[in-house]
Amino acid sequence: MNLAQFPRRGYVKEPTPIEYLPNFSKALGAGINIYMKRDDMLPGAGGGNKTRKLDFCVADALQKGCDTLITCGAVQSNHCRLTLAWAVHEGMDCHLVLEERVPGSYNPEASGNNFLYQLLGVKSITVVPKGTDMAAAMQGVADKLKASGRKPYVIPGGASNALGALGYVACMEEILAQMFAMGVNFDHMVVPSGSAGTHGGIIAGMIGNNGNIPVTGIGVNRPKAVQENAVLTVANQALELLGVEARVPADKVVAFDDYVGPGYSLPTDAMVEAVKMLAQTEAILLDPVYSGKAMSGLIDLARKGYFPKGANVLFLHTGGSPALFAYLPTFRK
Ligand SMILES: Cc1ncc(COP(=O)(O)O)c(C=O)c1O
Repeated sequence: MNLAQFPRRGYVKEPTPIEYLPNFSKALGAGINIYMKRDDMLPGAGGGNKTRKLDFCVADALQKGCDTLITCGAVQSNHCRLTLAWAVHEGMDCHLVLEERVPGSYNPEASGNNFLYQLLGVKSITVVPKGTDMAAAMQGVADKLKASGRKPYVIPGGASNALGALGYVACMEEILAQMFAMGVNFDHMVVPSGSAGTHGGIIAGMIGNNGNIPVTGIGVNRPKAVQENAVLTVANQALELLGVEARVPADKVVAFDDYVGPGYSLPTDAMVEAVKMLAQTEAILLDPVYSGKAMSGLIDLARKGYFPKGANVLFLHTGGSPALFAYLPTFRK
């Protein structure tokens, strides 16, 4: 697929490593080999998956002559942190609209990503209640900025539009090339599934390249059918944008909702177990909202025999560890 037809800023300078996790594979005791794609090591303050998407979205903003980025997320949003970080890098302003998905959860004194919003010099934060029309709220901020002479560019939540998803089409191509170079064939991939652009981009990259590796998404928020539809939609939009004729068969999209627990961003015992297990077997930091819950899904599925014995399973580590510092009581229990 021709990704070179789209401008990008070159934030992803080299492939992120794929590492075999021998201690964790052994501790899991399911007779499978776990590998990890280390997108937590992507450039950008604190690392994580949004750098791949913003590489394309910020290039589009600059090409359109914009000088300000506006985006939205939850109160501890990694996407907001990384949009702000790349805005700083580009000499642009950045304004955030934060949705209190858990009522009362915005605390201006909170640590984690919230602390980094302040440290990185966010221009404004608008906090809105759960269920707010985020596109309209961001447009409201954009209209005010336009009236004061700025040129704002609105990036949707998670940069999960077709353009942003191209970052994960590129990631899938990177993984296929690394598999060849390593001489390892992955039998299965497990990915976190939130605003759907990461999972959707991976699926689009898989279908567009005839990769033929089953991908299991672990949802962190929405019910299974809603999430799978969101992933399918963005995957097909990415293929259309790329000018690829193929479309994703609906049965290629799986996004389990069994690991969400009481709700988005709310801790589960299984997430705590997963975060501690990776820290204490491989010294790898997951996060409480996305990669920790996704790994709790992988652990449970492995224990239930979902992956055949001897399988090589690749987990996509999408980052997020700065959010750990907003969850200290959860881990100190
Ligand atoms: C650390 C981390 N992992 C995974 C995701 C999910 O990615 P997506 O929103 O593209 O589905 C996010 C989204 O914010 C994230 O911050």
